[in-house]
Amino acid sequence: MAFFGKDEAQNRPREIELDRSRLPRHVAIIMDGNGRWAQKRGLPRTFGHKAGVEALREIIRHSDELGIEALTIYAFSTENWKRSAEEVGALMGLLLEYFTKELDELNEENVQIRILGDIDGMPAELDKQKSALHAAIERTKGNTGLKLCIALNYGGRQEIVRAARILAQQTAQGLISPEEIDMPRFESQLYTAGLPEVDFLIRTSGEIRLSNFLLYQLAYAEFYQTDILWPDFDRRAYDEALLAYTKRNRRFGGV
Ligand code: FPP
Repeated sequence: MAFFGKDEAQNRPREIELDRSRLPRHVAIIMDGNGRWAQKRGLPRTFGHKAGVEALREIIRHSDELGIEALTIYAFSTENWKRSAEEVGALMGLLLEYFTKELDELNEENVQIRILGDIDGMPAELDKQKSALHAAIERTKGNTGLKLCIALNYGGRQEIVRAARILAQQTAQGLISPEEIDMPRFESQLYTAGLPEVDFLIRTSGEIRLSNFLLYQLAYAEFYQTDILWPDFDRRAYDEALLAYTKRNRRFGGV
């Protein structure tokens, strides 16, 4: 595919050719740097999140155009509740706005929305958000295009403990024996059940850590980090990341 970049002045090639046969099936993104993007402009952090949603729109559209099967984004972690009430409120407001305004278009584009995380464990006052999320999942569940997986009130450790608890309950009830607990059965209790393996993890803003994201699923994923702050991460930057992925030699522990 070809993409004509906006910043030819920076002397970057005008287009990036991607070998589609080598693209990842499942991309995960830690959209980091919204706060710093806003601070650099003397704006409140919440403006960074607003700009972050714009960047997300572009990346979702481009993932769809490229035929990527699944895109998982880290929208809100189980630890993000520690942020100020103002910032949490702004993020939850953006979430509701997103699902209210974008759902028709996402549905028309055949996008299937999934939520990874504990929606019902969100505070009671977020009833509108919970209903909007359940409605979006229900409305798009038959769609066969891009699987857009939004990690929300999500923690990787919590997800693993939850799966272990479900299997322990099934064992205690005599539904399965301990010997039947193997990797496929364990994976069937993760939020990502039924999705392709995560092939590629992108983290923006120069930070190099996992932050409790997809701890089980990233076992053999390729990592990519860029100093670009999330609101500035555009199609062009995404293509650069994907190009790097297509050149990687994945060995999965072999030689
Ligand atoms: C990290 O930047 C970003 C987040 C914690 C939130 C990401 C959320 C969005 C882009 C919007 C909400 C999503 C949807 C689906 C509408 P940071 O605030 O930690 O930035 P910093 O490291 O510069 O402080």
